[in-house]
Amino acid sequence: MLSREDVLTAGNEIEDAEYGLSLTDLQFIRDIMIKEDHVSATVLLSREDDDYKQQLQKQLTARFQAAGAKDVHLRFRTLSEFERNDAARKLQERSASLETAAEQAAPVMNILDPASGVKFIAVASGKGGVGKSTVTVNLAVALARIGKKVGIVDADIYGFSVPDMMGIEERPQLVNNRIIPIERFGVKVISMGFFVEENTPVIWRGPMLGKMLRNFFNEVEWGKLDYLLLDLPPGTGDVALDVHQMIPHSKEIIVTTPHATAAFVAARAGAMAIHTEHEIIGVVENMSYYACSHCGEKDYVFGRGGGAKLAEELHTKLLAQIPLGVPDNHVAEPDYSPSVYKADSQTGLTYKEVAESIASQLEQKGPA
Ligand SMILES: Nc1ncnc2c1ncn2[C@@H]1O[C@H](COP(=O)(O)OP(=O)(O)OP(=O)(O)O)[C@@H](O)[C@H]1O
Ligand SMILES: [Mg+2]
Repeated sequence: MLSREDVLTAGNEIEDAEYGLSLTDLQFIRDIMIKEDHVSATVLLSREDDDYKQQLQKQLTARFQAAGAKDVHLRFRTLSEFERNDAARKLQERSASLETAAEQAAPVMNILDPASGVKFIAVASGKGGVGKSTVTVNLAVALARIGKKVGIVDADIYGFSVPDMMGIEERPQLVNNRIIPIERFGVKVISMGFFVEENTPVIWRGPMLGKMLRNFFNEVEWGKLDYLLLDLPPGTGDVALDVHQMIPHSKEIIVTTPHATAAFVAARAGAMAIHTEHEIIGVVENMSYYACSHCGEKDYVFGRGGGAKLAEELHTKLLAQIPLGVPDNHVAEPDYSPSVYKADSQTGLTYKEVAESIASQLEQKGPA
């Protein structure tokens, strides 16, 4: 005995020529009547084509008969305008849900693979203490504030400072053997500081450094990211070289103070970036001046012009001049962090401008 289910199953096995979905999915088999071994139905045609009609007639009849029908009576009619729109909508829904399924089933792409679309920005300097970590942290937070998905790798394995600067006290969890980065101000952070006991110094040899860094990319559950910022240790040492080799498509920002000598030393980091073909997207001059809190007059305590000169030398632009002054944060605040400037502070706004300029510079060109 043939059942209604048999009819729908048969319709499921036959694709409509126009929409590529099954007749059943499109609800193109209608008015199904079954009386003992007699079945009748209306079949909707997306094409006014006799051959196509004959073909459907043959296919459906054969299937219904195989399911037990003796007498098969099919009427055919062409789709109405309304039914056509409805079918088009179903097709759209199906392709959307297939896309979602494909996204979910896709294996986790290695974040270092340029095809992952993550834009890497390494923050480098010639010498220590010029504000690389401060710039990395605030640029990352600013990018998150303008809606980007951002991560930071604190690649300063010996001298990690990002967790403290952002006021992070918790430690990452391990889920399914993957490290879940700590999220703060909308930025996902990973740092060697999370894995050492009580601020003890880390004593490692060269090869282990590279391995650790690789783990930061491969073993960490980053999720979807637009930007991953790397806070490099000062100078042009092992880690900087590892980063250059591991992420050849990384972009770079050079941080300097305004002093001529500092800019001269920073040029070495720039030269290394050029040598390894890392594109330099700009120079940030930090500690540029001290602005008097009463009259606003600028006092160029560390000299002037270093950032602009360096940018010119490296054929890139001066992204910003950040004045002296620590963030106006208070320990009692729930999101206290010693080094993150508030969004509406003068320096916070400057970082926002830098974030916008970088986003438009990098996103114009498509995925890095
Ligand atoms: N614009 C600024 N005004 C005042 N203090 C600043 C400014 N930028 C950075 N600092 C302070 O200067 C010190 C050095 O900054 P930071 O740690 O960011 O530099 P760094 O280049 O990452 O140093 P290192 O080479 O040790 O990694 C920190 O104490 C930081 O809070
Ligand atoms: Mg640092």
